[in-house]
Amino acid sequence: MFIDTHCHLHDDKLADTDKHVEEYLRDGVDIAINAACCALTSEKGKDLAEKYPSVYFMTGCHPSDIGGFDEQELLRIEKLTAHPKCVAVGEIGLDYHWEPFDKEKQQKGFIRQIELANQYKLPICIHSRDATADTLKILKENKAKLQYGAVMHCFSGSKETAAEILKMGLYISFAGPLTFKNANNLVEVAKFVPEDMCLTETDCPYLTPHPFRGKLNSPKNVSLVTARLAEIKGLNVDDMAEKVMNNAKRLFYKLEK
Ligand code: NI
Repeated sequence: MFIDTHCHLHDDKLADTDKHVEEYLRDGVDIAINAACCALTSEKGKDLAEKYPSVYFMTGCHPSDIGGFDEQELLRIEKLTAHPKCVAVGEIGLDYHWEPFDKEKQQKGFIRQIELANQYKLPICIHSRDATADTLKILKENKAKLQYGAVMHCFSGSKETAAEILKMGLYISFAGPLTFKNANNLVEVAKFVPEDMCLTETDCPYLTPHPFRGKLNSPKNVSLVTARLAEIKGLNVDDMAEKVMNNAKRLFYKLEK
C-alpha cells in the first residue's frame, strides 16, 4: 500500500538489508526506490533491485559528490539508465549548504544529468538545499528537457517556491520533517499542494519521522510521513497511500503497474 519514493538502502547504516526489506514489507510498504549519490551507489542500487523484487533504483550523482563527476563516472551512471528497474535519474541538483562547494561544477553536473534523463526518457529526482533561486533558474532554462517529469524531493521550501514548482508540472515529495512538531511552514505547503502532485519518502537513514527522531530511519517509516500528510489533507491513511502510489506510478512510469 505504501511506497518510499526516495531512500538510501545502499547506505552502510542500513547494511542489514534483509532485515529492513522484511520489516517494511511486513508494515505495508510495497515499493522502495533507492536514490543514488554517485556511480558506486547507483550500482549498489541496481544490485539491490536485482536482489529484492520490491526495490527499484535511480542512477545519478548528488551535488555534494559532484567533485568526482567526470566522463568515466558519467559513463558508469549512464550504463544503468536502460535497466528495467532504473526508474529515474537522481538524486541530482544543487547543494550550497556544506562548504566548500563548487557552484559552477554543480550546475554543469545538474544540467548534464537533466540531459541524460531526457535522452533515456526518464524523470529526474531533484535535490535542492540553500539553492532555490539557482535550482529554479536551471529548471526553467531546461524546461524542454523535463518532458519525462520531475520531483522535488524532501521539499522544505516556501509556499511560493512550491507554487513555482507546481506551475512547471513537477511533483513535490514530503519526508520526515513534515511530522516534526515545528513544521508549521511545511504543513502550510502540504495543505497547498494538490493531492495528485504529492509524493512521500523517508530519505533514510536520516530524517527519521516523529516519534522516532534520533533513531535510525528506514523505509518502513514512510507510513508515518504518509499518515501525517493524510491528516493534513483530511483523508484516511489508506486513501492517501493509494493516491501517493498512483502519483508515483504516473511519474516513475517504469514501476510495475
Ligand atoms: Ni536523498
